[in-house]
Amino acid sequence: MFKIDVDNINGKTESLYVYGESSILTELEEHNVLINYSCRQGHCGSCILQLLSGDVSHQGSLVPLSEGEILACRAIPITDIKIGLRD
Ligand code: FES
Repeated sequence: MFKIDVDNINGKTESLYVYGESSILTELEEHNVLINYSCRQGHCGSCILQLLSGDVSHQGSLVPLSEGEILACRAIPITDIKIGLRD
């Protein structure tokens, strides 16, 4: 089981515990943390998050990403991670 720390939800960090079987986008939704998304396929870039620590498995992304950026719809945690929501 992995811990996802989500930085800065209304000024605080929230911790979710997941099995690492679903995308971060799905895990956030299941824990009622709603972020922007559109395609859910790695094409549009609307679900970009900052990976602040830890590692993810990240597959099928067609969006150019900067250092530290991940696509929530394509990334699955493989360690405990900390992510930041975009403003
Ligand atoms: S929702 Fe489109 S890239 Fe993630």
